[in-house]
Amino acid sequence: MCGIIGFSGTENAVPKLMQGLSALEYRGYDSAGVAYFENGSLRFVKEKGRLDKLQSKINAVGVFDTTCGIGHTRWATHGAPSDVNSHPHGTENVLIVHNGIIENYAQIKSFLISKGYVFKSDTDTETAAKLIDYHFTEIGEPIEAVRKALNTIEGSYAVAALFSGHEGKIFAFRKDNPLIAAPSLDGSFITSDISAVLKFTNKYYEISEGEIAVADKDGITFVSSEGNIVQKELQTALWSVDKTEKCGFEHFMIKEIHEEPEALVRTLSPLVYEGNIAVGDLKDDDLRQFEKIHIVACGTAYHAGLIGKVAIESLARLNVNVYYASEFRYINPILGENDLVIAISQSGETADTLAALRLAKLKGVRTLAIVNNEGSALAREAYSVFYTKAGPEISVASTKAYHVQLGALYLIALKFAGIKGTLAADEISRLTHALVNDVPDKIRETLDHKSHCEYVAKKYMNVKNMFFIGRGVDRAQCEEAALKVKEISYIHCEAYAAGELKHGTISLIEDGTPVVAIITSMTTADKMISNIEEVKARGARVILFVTEGLSIPSGIANDIIYLSKTEEIFMPFICGTSTQLMAYYMSLNLGHDVDKPRNLAKSVTVE
Ligand code: F6R
Repeated sequence: MCGIIGFSGTENAVPKLMQGLSALEYRGYDSAGVAYFENGSLRFVKEKGRLDKLQSKINAVGVFDTTCGIGHTRWATHGAPSDVNSHPHGTENVLIVHNGIIENYAQIKSFLISKGYVFKSDTDTETAAKLIDYHFTEIGEPIEAVRKALNTIEGSYAVAALFSGHEGKIFAFRKDNPLIAAPSLDGSFITSDISAVLKFTNKYYEISEGEIAVADKDGITFVSSEGNIVQKELQTALWSVDKTEKCGFEHFMIKEIHEEPEALVRTLSPLVYEGNIAVGDLKDDDLRQFEKIHIVACGTAYHAGLIGKVAIESLARLNVNVYYASEFRYINPILGENDLVIAISQSGETADTLAALRLAKLKGVRTLAIVNNEGSALAREAYSVFYTKAGPEISVASTKAYHVQLGALYLIALKFAGIKGTLAADEISRLTHALVNDVPDKIRETLDHKSHCEYVAKKYMNVKNMFFIGRGVDRAQCEEAALKVKEISYIHCEAYAAGELKHGTISLIEDGTPVVAIITSMTTADKMISNIEEVKARGARVILFVTEGLSIPSGIANDIIYLSKTEEIFMPFICGTSTQLMAYYMSLNLGHDVDKPRNLAKSVTVE
């Protein structure tokens, strides 16, 4: 979703802002803008559409000589994408860029209208900007003006602001939205996402809630809510800039699929040593007491949770419920004192997942976050953290992050199997060895044969609808495979439990309807074959993803993708990579914007 970049230094700020905005593009946006000082006055340029349009407008305006500015990529919430609704917003005295939502914008707006303010946009941000302006006009000092405004503002925000009379300074503050301050050799950055500044620096300070950071060419100062200067520890980002570049691949998505084996090894191997497994920072005594697990997550992370349920229940015989995080608060979940809530998120900033975690905490239940983004809100707020080490995931469609989430869940399942005594120690160590060694090798093998996935993708890419069927863990895999195809190819897909089809949905199968069938589980293979026969009898064209070596009748499918064989329980890694490849090649050959599918944002920070 929205992104913020700010720079104040000794060099021209605009090229740095534009590079920062370009690094933020992956988050999803519909418009962009910059604000800056020019000869002591505040100026802005903003434009609906992609960054090249903003750059043309900047060139036309002729912005060359400014060393301090802020920039923004907007993903519309309040008000349609348009030039006027783009950020920055404000007045000739105050300009702000904002991520998040001002919940009481309507009350603030009526108050300001009564004071003579006029509004140009439909955004909630403009009300915050003008409230700050109102107090700034009254007080004449930015920090106090912001404090006064924040007393009124309700909602979530990360804001970077420029004030007239304070040339060269950026004021930044946040609540429930990420924002960091990053010093570099030639100035100071403010950003909502470390990826935006990795070209210039990997050092950063966290801005705590309640603080106001003031960045200028000489450094960054933090002022507490009591008005005291706060000393902070400089952090080092673990992500490097090559992880935010395509490195010769045509898209981030295909690059990130190729990073899956390496990401898995990086995530899992440090946690497995001398026959022991570590689960994030959870101690064995903590784990022993848990009787039930509740997984909360959204989208692809939710699908990882569905597979995690199968793994934990079958290996450790521990009961697992999986919830859409967006539903968790509305179903009055039954949570016991010996329960563990696991929140899974790549970004660690997904509003629904955060809200679900907060509810669990409110109910006094222990929480574990499986999260990829270090220092994110979910990681900060959970009782324990299991960091996945996928590195930055730039493509909107999640691929390698899904694989490391699966890796984390399998490791948790094996750990619980040891704690609960449901598997013998040598079996746990055999499976752990396969997870850390054989699975990455088999993913590499899958990548070596990607051309067959491309062939199948091209053959079916022009269809309007597809069905995905499977049983047990394969059904959960169908959900994720269908989501991947839907989100980047815009083909309507329906994932279905194969046995359920004949209870209604089979009426949608007609001559030529493509049905993807997944068989990685021996126990359901025979039943799946009958289900495939049922759809074939209604004219379906069948694309079968099946573990190599598994016996299937000849002529059962129109196209077969054989999945490199590893331990049956780990087949979702291999099938996951294959179905991601099929989705990628469909989108690519259809000519879609693979990494930035329409309407989607990378990190969904609104509920
Ligand atoms: C789909 C996708 C989304 C995310 C979901 C949760 O490819 O990426 O469905 O999985 O928005 O995001 P995180 O994991 O950041 O909480």
